[in-house]
Amino acid sequence: MKRMAKGMITNTFLKFFGIGLIASFVFYGCAGDEKTAKGKKLYHHYCSHCHGDSGQQGEGFNWDRMPDPRPKNLASNAEMSTFSDKEIFDTVYRDMRDTEDPVVLDDDNYFAVSTMPTFKYTLSEEEIWGIVAHVRTLHGMSLTFDMVGRKKELEEAYQAAKPEMEAAQAAYEAATEKAEAAQEAYEETLTDEQLEDYEPEDITLPEEAAFLTANGKFEKAKAAFEYFSKRPKKTRIERPDLTISEADLAQQVDLGKKLYTDTYGCNGCHSINDVGGLVGPTLDRAGFRLNPTWIYRWIRNPQAMKKHTRMPNLGASDADARALTYYLGTLRAPIPEAPVPEAE
Ligand code: HEC
Ligand code: HEC
Repeated sequence: MKRMAKGMITNTFLKFFGIGLIASFVFYGCAGDEKTAKGKKLYHHYCSHCHGDSGQQGEGFNWDRMPDPRPKNLASNAEMSTFSDKEIFDTVYRDMRDTEDPVVLDDDNYFAVSTMPTFKYTLSEEEIWGIVAHVRTLHGMSLTFDMVGRKKELEEAYQAAKPEMEAAQAAYEAATEKAEAAQEAYEETLTDEQLEDYEPEDITLPEEAAFLTANGKFEKAKAAFEYFSKRPKKTRIERPDLTISEADLAQQVDLGKKLYTDTYGCNGCHSINDVGGLVGPTLDRAGFRLNPTWIYRWIRNPQAMKKHTRMPNLGASDADARALTYYLGTLRAPIPEAPVPEAE
């Protein structure tokens, strides 16, 4: 009873100070050239199969297998100089399914070709800017967006928010201690009987609100800096329970089939019955060959299945990944017949 007020203050404390607030600052000082070199490497790994090393149409090994519309000629100055750096960035970054993204809401057409995958969930913003810098060189231009400056700006905002948050934290801690001491001093003055039915009041310290505001600002600045400089964190994908009734299955399979081409453009990279891309393995025997949990995991988090896979994380929700998994489970093409040796 006596400790109630104290307990409440401490709870808020634990919530915020219990989690580590130690910030680690990444050092950067790489010149723009190094960024472009890294962008080139990433381009070759994640883009060349569809766009070609030089950006020319028809060059990538996957070109002939991609459904229309196919990419513009990234090597053409006439076509590509009409795009701003930011527009190229958005083409690679944006996820047209993410309706909370202002870039997507901003887009009048609200349209994207599903076979150009989003790299938002696979690479850092900085890496994508590096790729854009390389794409610029393919048509004889160079990046004008100041990515080093942008990173510095984000880091400075993050660094400035930290001492503000820490000062607010110290003030909140001091105020809490003072309030607790006052509370205890007051309780000392009470007789045992008075203590019996004494209910301490909830104390709201103004320093708490100030701390929450400063901490919110700090977390936001930290996230902005981290989104820029680090790849998205891998989330652990729980083992899904994929049991389903026969009645629901048919409807899920239909949905999965639509998602496969219309929404996620899986056909840009995978083939079924010899139609579709060659970047990933053919999936026409997925129902025999792959277990459903394996399929589901590949869809939700390819990088957890194979660190440097060329399959980007497409940000599929649990519901979408299930529908896709049920659909792939129905693909049971027969083993291709071995060529019959010719009689002599
Ligand atoms: C699976 C094939 C595929 C992969 C992989 C791919 N793209 Fe694309 N990309 C496309 C398609 C298809 C389009 C055409 C989209 C359209 O018409 O709107 C496109 C469009 C673009 C465009 C806009 C120009 C245009 O044709 O409208 C840029 C820029 C681009 N891709 C860059 C990249 C970069 C950079 C990467 C690697 C990080 C990449 N793409 C990976 C298929 C791919
Ligand atoms: C940009 C190309 C690309 C796109 C888009 C893509 N994948 Fe993949 N996928 C791959 C590659 C490459 C692999 C093989 C990975 C490896 O071994 O590195 C793969 C692997 C897989 C596997 C595991 C196959 C096996 O044999 O174990 C499944 C299942 C899969 N993808 C399903 C999908 C689905 C469903 C979609 C759409 C939601 C999709 N992929 C979109 C490139 C792609």
